[in-house]
This record gives sequence, structure tokens and C-alpha cells, in this order.
Amino acid sequence: MKNIVLFASGSGSNVENIVQFFQDKPNVTIAGVLTNKRDAKVLDRCNKLNINGLYFNKHAFYETDCVLRILESIKPDLIVLAGFLWKIPEKLIQKYPNKIINIHPALLPKYGGKGMYGMRVHKAVKKDRASETGITIHYVNENYDEGAIIHQAKTKVLPEDTPEIIASKVQLLEYEHFPKIIEQLLA
Ligand code: GAR
Repeated sequence: MKNIVLFASGSGSNVENIVQFFQDKPNVTIAGVLTNKRDAKVLDRCNKLNINGLYFNKHAFYETDCVLRILESIKPDLIVLAGFLWKIPEKLIQKYPNKIINIHPALLPKYGGKGMYGMRVHKAVKKDRASETGITIHYVNENYDEGAIIHQAKTKVLPEDTPEIIASKVQLLEYEHFPKIIEQLLA
């Protein structure tokens, strides 16, 4: 039996997609979803999906061992950042080497780093008139979006694509690839 913990900060559509993917796979359990936003939509999704959802604040995350203790009690095989926007404290990275992964909505190393998330990324892609974009699934290290790349997938950007259209193309890639890569890493 493998255990996953998910971290999310917002809507949680990737969380929902991952939960649904593993629903009929009895050897993988989604132990819970941790969020840094009290009113994040992901918590509503957790309620609907019957998944544990837990909120923590900045103090708990950076100044205490609260999240570490929760993780220690779960003993996750993989920690998955699915739209989680805070930097992971070093003690967590040290405790779980090569066990924390993130998805970024662009082809890193392009359009990464602090402040590059969600629609900001897609607006930057549009502004650059890039002809392609995509997703990057990577290990998490001390620096934003710099850990070793596990998987990338690309999609074309047409000159007439708005940032919203780019976002929906990228989202499709996320839904298709992220659960499969998680499954592979757990195998
Ligand atoms: C996803 O597109 C994910 O790649 C992105 O946030 C979105 C979350 O959507 N993550 C980042 O930008 C991290 N730098 P969701 O809450 O609907 O899953």
C-alpha cells in the first residue's frame, strides 16, 4: 500500500483529477490534502470527494514542526504539490529527499521562479508570442522550480490563443500526465 499527501493552494482541479484517477486503484491511498488557504476551493472538493483536508497557516508551516509531524504520522511515499504556491521549508526537503514533486504550468526552465504561477505564466507565454508551452513535473529542491525534471509535455500555442486558452491547453496536459507520472513514481 502506498500513501500520497497532496499540497494545494487554490482551486484544486488537479487534486480532484488525481483523487479520481486513484479511486479504483486499491494499492494507492490519498492520505490527505494540505492547504495554506483557509477558503481554498480545494477544501470544498475534499469534502465532496470524502478526502481529508487540512489547513495550516504561515506560522505553523515555517515556525513550527506541525506539518512535519503530520507528515511523519502519515509516512507518505510521495508528497505532491498540485498548485501549491508557498516555498517548501528546507527541513521538509531534507526529511523527504526525492519524495516531493511539483507540477509547473510551463516548460521549465522557461517561465519559472518566484512569482511565476498560474495565469501569470500563461500571460508571459502570450506576451513572448511563444509558439509552444507545456507542463513540467519536477522534484522540489530549495529553489523555486529548479529541481530535477521528471517529465515534460508540450502543446502548441497559436498566435490567436488568449492566456485563458493557453491555460486550458496546459490544464489538459496536466490532467493527462500528472496522475500517470505519480503512479510511475510509486511503482
Ligand atoms: C496548475 O496549473 C499548476 O500547474 C499551477 O497552479 C495550477 C493549479 O490549478 N502551479 C503553479 O503555477 C506552481 N508554480 P488547480 O488548483 O486547478 O489544480
